[in-house]
Amino acid sequence: MADRPPVALEDRGEGGDGRRYSPSIARNRDAIRDVLSAHLCLPARVLEIASGTGEHGAYLVAELPGLDWTYSDIDGPSLESQRAWRHATGAPLLRGPLEINAAETNWGDAERPGAWDVLFSANMVHIAPFEAVSGLIEGAGRLLKTDGLLTLYGPFARDGVIAPSNAAFDESLKRRDARWGVRDLDGELVPLAQKGGLRLESVVQMPANNLTVFFRKI
Ligand SMILES: C[S@@+](CC[C@H](N)C(=O)[O-])C[C@H]1O[C@@H](n2cnc3c(N)ncnc32)[C@H](O)[C@@H]1O
Repeated sequence: MADRPPVALEDRGEGGDGRRYSPSIARNRDAIRDVLSAHLCLPARVLEIASGTGEHGAYLVAELPGLDWTYSDIDGPSLESQRAWRHATGAPLLRGPLEINAAETNWGDAERPGAWDVLFSANMVHIAPFEAVSGLIEGAGRLLKTDGLLTLYGPFARDGVIAPSNAAFDESLKRRDARWGVRDLDGELVPLAQKGGLRLESVVQMPANNLTVFFRKI
């Protein structure tokens, strides 16, 4: 993993017990809680792809009773932080982490077709090669139960139109790694989703020009 670029753009704090802290999660977690609360039917078994520090899972499980949340990531230090969050909270419905590379076609212990009500991923699709995006969508088509939801949070373009702040962000991402970049929801993700048996159900505008996107498994 040493040849991979940093997994996040921000400086992440560390508390001494292995738990990492992300400034952006402190800003977005309440808005994500509210949008999930409005769109998910609980109880729900959620597989999170690219859990990063692990704070979303720890926070959302505490805030939304009935959420059963499994962490995953490709990155060793992130997996350690997720383990530390799980240990610190002791929440019985916080599980994992599983080691999953979204770009691969076999997700190991997560390969339980129909077992997952929701696949959730925040801020991964623009900070990973496109194979991770297509792998994520294929994985959702493969593993979600019928009527399950693929839920993505982050910045997106819509049909070739991108907010100025996201266009600047896209340029900075591409300078760091030419394979990264803000994706076009309609031009890039929706066609892949349709191939995988998912239809775009709703798109919710979030603070700071982010979106939460819900695809329904048909
Ligand atoms: C910017 S961080 C976002 C983490 C967290 N979801 C959040 O909102 O803070 C990007 C995450 O994507 C993960 N990632 C990158 N490529 C991946 C891949 N191919 N499969 C799974 N996770 C990946 C990184 O390890 C990192 O944890």
